[in-house]
Amino acid sequence: MEENNKIADEESEELIESEKDKKFDLIIDELQKRKIDIKRIKKIDQSKKRATIDSVFDERTIFTLNKLLVNGPLERIEGTISAGKEANVYLAYDLTGKEVAIKIYKIDSNTSKWMRNYIIGDPRFKKIPRNISKIIYLWASKEYKNLKRAYKVGLSVPNPIFIKNNILIMEYIGFESIPAPILKDIKTPKNIFNLMNEVLTFIKELYQKANLVHGDLSEFNILYHNQKPVVIDMSQAVSIYHPKAEVYLARDISNIFKYFEKLGTNTPNPKDFYYEVIDINI
Ligand SMILES: Nc1ncnc2c1ncn2[C@@H]1O[C@H](COP(=O)(O)OP(=O)(O)OP(=O)(O)O)[C@@H](O)[C@H]1O
Ligand SMILES: [Mg+2]
Repeated sequence: MEENNKIADEESEELIESEKDKKFDLIIDELQKRKIDIKRIKKIDQSKKRATIDSVFDERTIFTLNKLLVNGPLERIEGTISAGKEANVYLAYDLTGKEVAIKIYKIDSNTSKWMRNYIIGDPRFKKIPRNISKIIYLWASKEYKNLKRAYKVGLSVPNPIFIKNNILIMEYIGFESIPAPILKDIKTPKNIFNLMNEVLTFIKELYQKANLVHGDLSEFNILYHNQKPVVIDMSQAVSIYHPKAEVYLARDISNIFKYFEKLGTNTPNPKDFYYEVIDINI
């Protein structure tokens, strides 16, 4: 009798394992089919030709920046930290002389199109504007809200300070005028095993405490500061109730595991970690 139970248990365990495998594989399959990132890169490449610094500094952005310099909270803008496809990031100083980072989103119609993917279905954003600038403003405010939510529960992200239209001001991560490097640019991070655990804890707590999925987590969006990870670029993060939240979570986990595996770290089983994050003990 006991032996029969054991066999039945083993069989059901196997069944559960294969169910788990199937679900995870389905998610990865779906990702591959969708090729979200490839589409996104293609669209951005096409728009790159037109995307000059001018597209950051449209009239309204200049007007808003000027207001922030005249009325606060900015004292002066120092220089560019990063000039990207969707946004530029600048080092600036606030009225107390403290460094801050300003992220200015470019008003670009191609960018606003794929942004819709991440906004539609998020229960936090019921009305989706048609106007390009308004979508970009919504996107910037989404990054502000996501950072706030993560920061509030004690996660390692820059503290968001101010948001106005497409301009986001946040805590600067770096030493004086030298911004912290992204993890991708660190050849051999110290204490790699601890670092991995910190990033995995981030994923888990972002999900369980802030109820968010980052959606673009990789060594490109993690700053390495004081030998600790600081996660940035939270604009595309979605609520865990977003229909694609699990797909994005599986992708984040897959990116992070690949990065640490390449460095020769002993990573846990990604599927088990995935289920640990979503807290399903099947
Ligand atoms: N708070 C910060 N402190 C210091 N540096 C920052 C901060 N936020 C961003 N950066 C720098 O700016 C770069 C771009 O920021 P982020 O990843 O948020 O933008 P992005 O959306 O990836 O922009 P794009 O896709 O247009 O390149 C980062 O790789 C990092 O070097
Ligand atoms: Mg980035």
